[in-house]
Amino acid sequence: MTEAELYTEYKGVYLSKSMNPPQSLKYLEDFTFRPDDIIIATYPKSGTHWMQHIVGLVLNGGDPTSVDTVYNWKRAPWLEQAATIALNLEERPSPRVFSTHFHHNMMPRSFFDVDPKVIYVMRNPKDVFTSYFHFHEIASFLVKPGSSSEFLHKFLDGKVQHGSWFDHVKSWLNAENKQHIMYISYEELSADLKTSVAKVAEFLEQRLDDEVMEKIAEKCLFENMKENKMTNYSDTPTKILDQTKTKFFRKGVVGDWKNLLAAEEAEHFDAVYTDKMKDVEYSIVWD
Ligand code: A3P
Repeated sequence: MTEAELYTEYKGVYLSKSMNPPQSLKYLEDFTFRPDDIIIATYPKSGTHWMQHIVGLVLNGGDPTSVDTVYNWKRAPWLEQAATIALNLEERPSPRVFSTHFHHNMMPRSFFDVDPKVIYVMRNPKDVFTSYFHFHEIASFLVKPGSSSEFLHKFLDGKVQHGSWFDHVKSWLNAENKQHIMYISYEELSADLKTSVAKVAEFLEQRLDDEVMEKIAEKCLFENMKENKMTNYSDTPTKILDQTKTKFFRKGVVGDWKNLLAAEEAEHFDAVYTDKMKDVEYSIVWD
């Protein structure tokens, strides 16, 4: 199916018609945030589920009950997604945890009035591209990616679901009121998970023993998370997500782009990156 059939354009960005129907977009436009809400903001494929798991465990002092028994999309629902409306978020006790793939400038009025806590997770865009390419092959609500070179053009032009990676990252990095945003990268999580857990705990003002942080880090390892039915979408019908081809928890590594991009494509990617990111002051080290 084509872009015209599967996507809608909202605030200049492609969204999936089935995942983000008009009533969901309206729901988020009218949503009332609380100052103690916690929002995990990401471009897709940047480590959203990883952070949902970390936050779920940190807020529960390391108790795994919630991550082991409640689906991630119920625990940390995407505010813009169809399934969220039925979750009665208004009645949830604080602190509520949400996810969003929206760009900063797409967030609704109440978000800017209240300035809730945001954890922004970002990942080397070449790995995001790679992960997204494979995901497009298995998700029925996305346009089939074609060859990796075809998908590369679409990705660099932002003609994919959730728009341009560059615009997304820049919108959050250039946000005006940064005191309430914690920035962390997939690569930092990968390099030192326990220190990353400590960083999240500090941001969320949770005092945790060393031993608890160790346990949380262990629970959030790729091998452990990929077996967790509350997170791995094994209960999702194949006609929506065909995990017989590629698992949602695919590889979980840094640098897999080297297996997909040819040398000249990687060079082109880097040139586009340098150009588009030139006005970003935040220094990002991907490797
Ligand atoms: P890969 O496709 O490269 O394996 P998101 O949660 O934002 O959709 O991102 C999904 C990507 O994060 C996938 O990348 C997935 O495997 C990876 N991921 C999820 N949990 C992880 C973990 N605990 N450790 C490492 N990578 C993880």
